[in-house]
Amino acid sequence: MTHTLIDPFQRAITYLRVSVTDRCDFRCVYCMSENMTFLPKKDLLTLEELDRLCSSFIRLGVEKLRITGGEPLVRKGIMTFFDAMSAHLAKGTLKELTLTTNGSQLDRFAADLANCGVRRINVSLDTLDDKKFADITRWGRLPQVIKGIDAAQKAGLRVKINAVALKGFNEDELFTLQEWCASRDMDLTWIEVMPMGDIGNEDRLDQFWSLKDLRSRLANQFTVTDLAERSGGPARYVRIEETGQKIGFITPLSHNFCESCNRVRITCTGEIYTCLGQEGHSDLRAPLRTSDDDAVLETAIRAAIGLKPKGHDFDYSRQDVSGRVSRHMSHTGG
Ligand code: GTP
Ligand code: 5AD
Ligand code: SF4
Repeated sequence: MTHTLIDPFQRAITYLRVSVTDRCDFRCVYCMSENMTFLPKKDLLTLEELDRLCSSFIRLGVEKLRITGGEPLVRKGIMTFFDAMSAHLAKGTLKELTLTTNGSQLDRFAADLANCGVRRINVSLDTLDDKKFADITRWGRLPQVIKGIDAAQKAGLRVKINAVALKGFNEDELFTLQEWCASRDMDLTWIEVMPMGDIGNEDRLDQFWSLKDLRSRLANQFTVTDLAERSGGPARYVRIEETGQKIGFITPLSHNFCESCNRVRITCTGEIYTCLGQEGHSDLRAPLRTSDDDAVLETAIRAAIGLKPKGHDFDYSRQDVSGRVSRHMSHTGG
């Protein structure tokens, strides 16, 4: 039996993104609606079940594990799960354990995360303006996130800022965000906004700010060099020669990167989504709960990977939004 998961397009699956909760203490406008209905607790995988599921993926060749949500750090007892995963790091079967967070709880958890072997984290932050931050996250407050980032850096975690590029919202912060990240020795990645969740077509088109445009604005001001290095995700990086700073671009719309996709996602109820931009998914909770035999679970995982589609169909190019996905981004954690 091979220990690698290979999909129908000969892509090796080595990166697992695990959403440990659908809940969040923010309500970012491009991610959630204001009145979300959350899953009942009984539907969630327990921390032990999450451990068993992730451990199976690691046995099958997953080397990078990213914990997401909702907001992963609002899941009760989540450090127990990080602890369990850190054992795989210690054994060398897992190469990277990391998370994507809104930063709100980092002040409490940064030191514990570092102790579990987490080395770098991605923090979602789209603006440095208090008022705009409160508008875009609806419930978030910027000072709390800055405090979290301070704590993360103090604990020795490397921080990458993820900013969703939004036309008319943070275009004017292109350089300020970049300078702020440089001044704190943090990387910065821009993400194109994707048509997920029940937000009207017009809104998405109005919000879409192509990273091709963002990049040419940078190139007007600086010397921008493409880098070959990868961080195991979809970001492509450039270096700003004048400052040495590295900037990432995640361009699902302007440049599709699906041909090199190496990842799948599981939700907090044990669904596996093999593509962020498609509706198709399979259930892993039933095989997890009906048998203690890991072979049963592994067969279900392989069957799901066997259904991984070629890529997403997001497209805004005909002045319309096509390829949209009905579930919210928080369902799979990006
Ligand atoms: P690194 O390990 O730092 O490279 O991180 P990453 O880019 O894999 O993870 P992160 O959580 O920072 O991802 C940023 C965002 O990129 C996600 O939240 C999604 O919005 C988007 N993204 C990640 N993977 C995919 C993908 O497979 N398809 C699409 N369309 N977007 C993705
Ligand atoms: N398009 C692009 N990125 C999104 N995120 C949430 N919703 C969207 C969307 N519709 C990002 C968040 C965070 C990550 C989990 O996904 O900002 O960085
Ligand atoms: Fe919460 Fe992240 Fe979604 Fe914002 S993008 S509402 S912080 S899960």
